[in-house]
Amino acid sequence: MLVLGIESTCDETAAAVVEDGKVILSNVIRSQAEVHAQYGGVFPEVAARLHVDALLPVIEEALKEAKIKPEDIDLIAAARGPGLMGAILLGLNAAKTLALSLNKPFVGINHVEAHIYAAMMNNPLLLPALGVVVSGGHTLLLRVDKIGTYEIIGTTIDDAIGEAFDKIASILDLPYPGGPHIEKLAKKGNPLTYNFKRAKAPDFNFSFSGLKTKILYLVKGQKGSRKSPSLIGMTEKKDIAAAFQKTVLEDVLDKALRAALKYSCRAIYVGGGVSNNEYLRKLFKETPIPSFFPSKPLSLDNGAMIAGLAYFQFKEKSGDSLNLPAVASFKAC
Ligand code: KG4
Ligand code: ZN
Repeated sequence: MLVLGIESTCDETAAAVVEDGKVILSNVIRSQAEVHAQYGGVFPEVAARLHVDALLPVIEEALKEAKIKPEDIDLIAAARGPGLMGAILLGLNAAKTLALSLNKPFVGINHVEAHIYAAMMNNPLLLPALGVVVSGGHTLLLRVDKIGTYEIIGTTIDDAIGEAFDKIASILDLPYPGGPHIEKLAKKGNPLTYNFKRAKAPDFNFSFSGLKTKILYLVKGQKGSRKSPSLIGMTEKKDIAAAFQKTVLEDVLDKALRAALKYSCRAIYVGGGVSNNEYLRKLFKETPIPSFFPSKPLSLDNGAMIAGLAYFQFKEKSGDSLNLPAVASFKAC
């Protein structure tokens, strides 16, 4: 079964063709990050306009790379949320229009579930499992009973973890998206120079905003804002990046392990943009329960994870109506 998957929930326009949920025939991603960097974060209206320009060329490229014609597609899928409403609507409506005009079934996909599926796609499937989503918009621990059946075990009570990376990066005068820049700087720093404490959040929940404020005061002074000049030098910045990364990623590891044991999980699957981070990948290498990560191109937003999950969702529940609405939040998805 050939599935076309379209992703446009944030600042990547992406389309992919995947066969039977596993074999990636094409995976085209056009990132808008460079444009949003000048605003220090994603500008929703600009994101929507750039999706308008990119969607059709990206879909055409995905079909060309997969060496198939539109009529060869068996199923058309798009992320229906969570994310930026204007951005989602464009990819979702492109998928519905293609489905209608080609007379093919359509399915709407939860973007966050797709991030977990990305870690399952080319790895053994051991269920029940713990799904860990660490992205720009979400920090979630989910018990996965089977593909498509999830229970939320933990989430963030304030900022998402990727958002925290992006905000700390901005405090350290690094460009957007901040995660890769923090990781690079952290490699040159000493994580033990600063003794940052993990925030106390109940059970398996997370909190990152207290640490963000602490770092803001350290770098810009008690009365400083993100745009104020730095009071510290490069050595301190490197050490802060290293200590921040260690503190929040070890928090993810500890809670994921405790949750996996408590909920009798046979494996841990980690997905979302922050799963690109080498330090996080190294931490999870030493776990007593097997942990799996997506390949690097599948960590960030992409169409292959949408097309892959769509195959299983279609087999389980068949297609969705073309009236399926876009949704901004995870719980409504
Ligand atoms: O999954 P994603 O592409 O989009 C959302 O669904 O939000 O995640 C983007 C997030 C950004 O916050 C970015 O800074 C972060 O992933 N990120 C990283 C790394 N690469 C991307 N964070 C830490 N280390 C990285 N290497
Ligand atoms: Zn994402």
